[in-house]
Amino acid sequence: MKSRGFGKTGLRVSEVGFGAWALGEAWWGTQDDGESIKALHRAAELGANFIDTAQVYGEGKSEAIIARFRKEWKGDLIVATKTPPEAGSWPPSPYDPPEIAFSPAYLRANVEKRLRSLQTDCIDILQLHCWSRAWNKDPRPFETLRQLKQEGKIRLIGVSTPEHDQNCVVDLIRNGWVDSVQVIYNLFEQDPAAEILPAAQEHGVGIIVRMAFDEGALTGKFTRETVFPKGDFRADYFRGDRLGRVVDRVEKIRADVAGSGYTLPQAALKFAMSHPGVSTVIAGIRNVAQAEMNLAVSELPELPPELLKELRTHFWRRSIWYGDNW
Ligand SMILES: NC(=O)c1ccc[n+]([C@@H]2O[C@H](COP(=O)([O-])OP(=O)(O)OC[C@H]3O[C@@H](n4cnc5c(N)ncnc54)[C@H](OP(=O)(O)O)[C@@H]3O)[C@@H](O)[C@H]2O)c1
Repeated sequence: MKSRGFGKTGLRVSEVGFGAWALGEAWWGTQDDGESIKALHRAAELGANFIDTAQVYGEGKSEAIIARFRKEWKGDLIVATKTPPEAGSWPPSPYDPPEIAFSPAYLRANVEKRLRSLQTDCIDILQLHCWSRAWNKDPRPFETLRQLKQEGKIRLIGVSTPEHDQNCVVDLIRNGWVDSVQVIYNLFEQDPAAEILPAAQEHGVGIIVRMAFDEGALTGKFTRETVFPKGDFRADYFRGDRLGRVVDRVEKIRADVAGSGYTLPQAALKFAMSHPGVSTVIAGIRNVAQAEMNLAVSELPELPPELLKELRTHFWRRSIWYGDNW
């Protein structure tokens, strides 16, 4: 497993990390806890030292499983978690002051909860689970997080981008408020290459890439007939004509990848890792087989420049779902 620097923090992170959302079961259908623990062990054995979780992944369940695993695993790990907004809409309304989502008292209380849930005395990376462009001129929640850093409750401060306006974090990067940013960067969503990733490189901010598989679609395993199990949010995410449109696009990518020596999931992960501004790609993993498949990708050769160029043409500006002609 190759490692990369994490901005200017001095940390080295595995270039493939463990996305632990599904371990909390929330919105992913049923998940066997024993399988989750086995997958975490296998990933760590294969060199993954970075795990991403959040309160909302089962209201602490994903964090609790990671805490259980951390007791069993003696090696070094970096665990990033997230604090959700306390109230207000998600994504936040432009009219809400930041205190509605992240007041000082709420942040302090929530960090104590995260410490208990992760069974640790210091959180490696505390990320705000969403942000609003409206707060950039006066990003007060980060002042509270800085105090918590000084008090030794958190090591690093991060933010996770809202899907509809990922670029809203660029000012936070430029103004030195964050140590890390979590961003969607995949074969469809390539916009972070325009501003977020270069800004992070320039200012020494760690980049955690999420959704490299677009919730599984870019592994190429879905068809127009795929039916998601009960409780799996993808029934909604790929509702209506979306599944068919995604599958059609994935088939075009499959055609480009054919004969390259990479499978589709390998090409998807390699693509997400291909930008030098990226520190780690947290592949969502829910079993040992996925841990083995995804972590092995680090050792594969870099995508040849011609293939990378071709893959860049699959950019799909989909944060707004246009009509069928797009
Ligand atoms: N707002 C936020 O901050 C936010 C939002 C989303 C995600 N995240 C974080 O980012 C992580 C990664 O994103 P994600 O899990 O949503 O999506 P993802 O990485 O795009 O997809 C993960 C899913 O794809 C399937 N999969 C994984 N490896 C596979 C393989 N090799 N072959 C076939 N299928 C495979 C698994 O589900 P099945 O086996 O059930 O298909 C897995 O749960 C999350 O776990 C979470 O930590 C953060």
